[in-house]
Amino acid sequence: MRSRRASKGAGALGLLALTATACSGERLGMPEPISVQAERMLQLWQGSWIAAFAVGGVVWGLIIWAVLFHRKRSDDLPPQVRYNMPIEILYTAVPFVIIAVLFYFTARDEEFVEKTTANPAVTIDVTGYQWSWQFDYKEKVAGAEKTVATVVGVPVAPNGPAAGKPVMVIPSGKTVRIRLHTNDVIHSFWVPALLYKKDVMPGYTNEFEFTATKLGTYEGRCAELCGVDHSRMLFQLKVVTPEQYATFMAEAKAKATGGAQ
Ligand code: CUA
Repeated sequence: MRSRRASKGAGALGLLALTATACSGERLGMPEPISVQAERMLQLWQGSWIAAFAVGGVVWGLIIWAVLFHRKRSDDLPPQVRYNMPIEILYTAVPFVIIAVLFYFTARDEEFVEKTTANPAVTIDVTGYQWSWQFDYKEKVAGAEKTVATVVGVPVAPNGPAAGKPVMVIPSGKTVRIRLHTNDVIHSFWVPALLYKKDVMPGYTNEFEFTATKLGTYEGRCAELCGVDHSRMLFQLKVVTPEQYATFMAEAKAKATGGAQ
């Protein structure tokens, strides 16, 4: 009975530590998610921590119980439990169950987050280069894919003045496909609010999709060391309403046509 109370106390202590040390409260350090996929990632993150603290609570409880109730009382050898089959099986089965549960939820959510659809509402070819980004908006025109609008970031010159960040404008509530390209070195496309990043590799096109749920402007950056101005390879993701997006596209298309003439 006493040992049960001790392990319960340790569990409560763990829960207290959980709530007291998390810097962004219930999100456990993660930024506020702004897409359907990011919300799923956050749930996986929170679930993993709850599982970790549950396991931690049991382990701390057992340690405290052993420290308190099994102190050295005499020089006699205490009862030995080698070759105790039930305990050996428990040692093997419990970690296996823990790993199986973590594996199941990770595989399930990875499948969900990496899923791509046949006809996304918006397709953007992203090109990373030393040191900025270009966003080419693609549309199917008479069966063939065409660039209909382009946002080009001014490359940062080594130790030069800070350039403006290129802005990727996308509509909320719509499926957005991002295709990642580069012609120089490896970069990584990262918007922390999406709780997602993906490598941008020469010679290989990485892609992913997301559906934004919150309007606003979010910071994006390169997350792979790619040279002297890697830290200034910045951009912004601006989530607008579908109506605002239509206006943005109409203006961008007009500008593109105007530039070609
Ligand atoms: Cu591109 Cu770091």
